[in-house]
Amino acid sequence: MTSTLTPDAVAPKVAKLVAAAERASYDPFTEIDWNQPIADTAYFLPPEHLPLFGTPPWEAMSELERIEYSRHECASLCSAGIWFENILMNMVLKHLYDLPVSDVSHRYLLIETADECRHSAMFGEFIRQAGTPAYQVDPLLRFGGKVMTNIAGRAGGFIAILAAEEILDVSNRATMKDDRVHPLSRQIAKLHVLEEARHMSFARTWLEAVWPTLNPLDRVRAAALAPVYVFGIADALVNPTVYDELGIDGGARMAKANPHRKDMVKGSLHRLVTQLEELGAITPLTRPSWMLLGLI
Ligand SMILES: [Fe+2]
Ligand SMILES: [Fe+2]
Repeated sequence: MTSTLTPDAVAPKVAKLVAAAERASYDPFTEIDWNQPIADTAYFLPPEHLPLFGTPPWEAMSELERIEYSRHECASLCSAGIWFENILMNMVLKHLYDLPVSDVSHRYLLIETADECRHSAMFGEFIRQAGTPAYQVDPLLRFGGKVMTNIAGRAGGFIAILAAEEILDVSNRATMKDDRVHPLSRQIAKLHVLEEARHMSFARTWLEAVWPTLNPLDRVRAAALAPVYVFGIADALVNPTVYDELGIDGGARMAKANPHRKDMVKGSLHRLVTQLEELGAITPLTRPSWMLLGLI
């Protein structure tokens, strides 16, 4: 991600977001009660947000098995969160490497990096306490993430960041409000929602201001590669090792093919897709790839 100065149009938004961060930044190790036992007394994610929801293996599970499965999915989601945030921090730090401190977004980008450090530490703590394996995103996706970190331009990078944040936000908002869900999971989701709101707000404003200033080659590259990045992010939310661990034969395949899950992914991306269409970052030429990959 090469760096150029942030357009002045972004400055008022950045000033608001820095002020918001001064008022509301949370330390997960003091805000969250980590002494609550992680027992299978409640779901760890809302059932409708679980990748297998509504499939034959889901229908065959007892309530207790569904809850246990939700605990493993929650640990896997936290692990995907750590993966996204590592990619995000890499890209933001590369951007900051060349950015003068006088740039309007310099301080804000350091705040965002610090937020993500705390979030990844929080997700890691949940996984360590969840009694599940320390799931990691599939090796092929991890390799893809490494490549993306190095080749994504600024615009492609921010589209990928926004996609990951939008997908997680929909799941987090449902989790924090759902009284069927374990209080620890709800507290984690709530803290994440509160701080991610500023990240999404920045990424949307930044994309809107920067997109028209890109040279045509950068625009074509970002528009062509964006659906691939976004597909990789959505794909990371079904981790085959969860199904191997729980002995659910063909579980990952059924989860990926689950029409309910596909609709949830499309629904989570709706706001991003609308913005990209308005910007011209989804064009009549690239729209078929978004559709083919199940993102629209
Ligand atoms: Fe985060
Ligand atoms: Fe974020």
